[in-house]
Amino acid sequence: MGFIFNNLLRRKPVTAITDAESHDSGLHRVLTVRDLTFFGIAAIIGAGSFSSIGSACFSGGPAVIFLFIICAIACGFTAMCYADFATRVPASGSAYTYAYVSFGELAAWIIGWALLMEYSIGNIYVAFSWSGYFVNLIESVGLHIPVWLTNNYSDSHQAFIDGTAGKMNDAWNTAPIVAGVKFIIDLPAIMINILVTWLVYVGTKESRNASNVMVIIKLAIILLVIIVGASYVDIDNWTPFMPNQFSGVMAGVSGVFFAYIGFDAVSTLAEESKNPQRDLPRGMIYSLIICTVVFIILALVLTGMVSYTALNVSDPLAEVFALKGIKWMLFIVSIAAVVAMTSVILVFQMGQPRIWMAMSRDGLLPKKFAEIHPKYKTPAFSTLITGLVVGIPIFFVTPKFVLDFTSIGTLFAFVLVCGGVLILPRNMDAKEKGKFKMPYINSKYIVPIITIASLVVIFYNDASQISTWEGDNIIYNIPMIVFYLVWITIAIFSFIKNYSLIPVLGLLSCCYLLTGMGWTNWMMFGVWLVIGLVVYLAYGYRKSKLNVA
Ligand code: ALA
Repeated sequence: MGFIFNNLLRRKPVTAITDAESHDSGLHRVLTVRDLTFFGIAAIIGAGSFSSIGSACFSGGPAVIFLFIICAIACGFTAMCYADFATRVPASGSAYTYAYVSFGELAAWIIGWALLMEYSIGNIYVAFSWSGYFVNLIESVGLHIPVWLTNNYSDSHQAFIDGTAGKMNDAWNTAPIVAGVKFIIDLPAIMINILVTWLVYVGTKESRNASNVMVIIKLAIILLVIIVGASYVDIDNWTPFMPNQFSGVMAGVSGVFFAYIGFDAVSTLAEESKNPQRDLPRGMIYSLIICTVVFIILALVLTGMVSYTALNVSDPLAEVFALKGIKWMLFIVSIAAVVAMTSVILVFQMGQPRIWMAMSRDGLLPKKFAEIHPKYKTPAFSTLITGLVVGIPIFFVTPKFVLDFTSIGTLFAFVLVCGGVLILPRNMDAKEKGKFKMPYINSKYIVPIITIASLVVIFYNDASQISTWEGDNIIYNIPMIVFYLVWITIAIFSFIKNYSLIPVLGLLSCCYLLTGMGWTNWMMFGVWLVIGLVVYLAYGYRKSKLNVA
């Protein structure tokens, strides 16, 4: 029993990775710091900024910018932890590899399993949003695709049951019946997945060039949206500022956090960067800073142009211009959205195979996953499987389901990355020129003092965070209670172990964001992890390269 437990915690030595990766991995080293920053922006600005920001503004009101700031802080600290790891372990697997050297094999597997949410499942949401804007775009030039070919089955069925008027209901009513089932599929979402899979399959350089062009287009158009939109801002729309209290703001956490996901995908490109130890950290941090500024301005412009109550739509950037009667901007916004989301799909579709490649090299997945295409120099088999993992669920899941799932899986991975930095021995080497080194600030007193002060203030002012009365029944806020317990535990450990402040703050802020995820999300995520555990025990545990039995 003890033997099995030790095996689950077996760790990969950092030196084993750095030695192996310094040899030629078969991938082309073509990416510079500018490419990596562009890849970061390519991955970040997408469906979150063009779609899910709408419902977040609706539930939080203009105060949603607080959520953007909280998410930026959480992602900022986490990016520093990713950067720290990327310098120490410049290999493809991203958080998976980082967990392998810090927490051991089981945690690494779980991270790899959770990252499937971020990369593949997240891409499903982006593909759905892409389809929505693509349909807007072609309709604006007079082309029309039947609604049963541009909507998803589950939402259409639900719209029919609820009697909600609109395209989804129309899709249900007009769909042909094939083998006794209503034939409703989101064809554009499937097509974009096939197109990007092909592009990623044929080469990193081609993907980089496409991604760089797309980033320039999307940044230019977003700038235009902000400039044109700003001239329509009416500051009266910023009142009420927080219409649904802070709980309304937190209700948008999945959507807002989703908007930030992507800076970490840069770390999967370690083996294709010319100088990963210098450039990966920079690429991640630069792209995050640029996007944070864009998001906060965008949220202010959106909530300033129209009342937040008008923003509960899947294409809020188009909606605000439609409401203001600025027709020419609708076309431009749709182009920007289509381009922006294509680049997100591209980067994630590149990231997923590289994580599988790393897992396969470690023996946790079959060898085929690490196979490099002899001509294109890309992980060909993994790329195709990624295309299937993204493409097949498009037929039966809903955007809301995949959005929540992606955000919880990614936050979970972020928590382990921040925690992993705390577990690894502190990097005592002198800072080398050009290499990132996480600044060490001792959290020994800072974190316990902040913890005690915050808890006193919170409970003195508002104990409803922990429990509320509904009639005669007391309702406990379990996620919040768990968060406070985690917070106190981390404060105690900070005091005892002199933890570094930045990863501690990253860990706490990501844990805080996790409290915004509903119970059903947690349950589904739990089921997902259990399935992952079964797969690991059935395959990876036995086949692992670290297996000495
Ligand atoms: N941040 C990426 C997007 O919003 C995942 O599409």
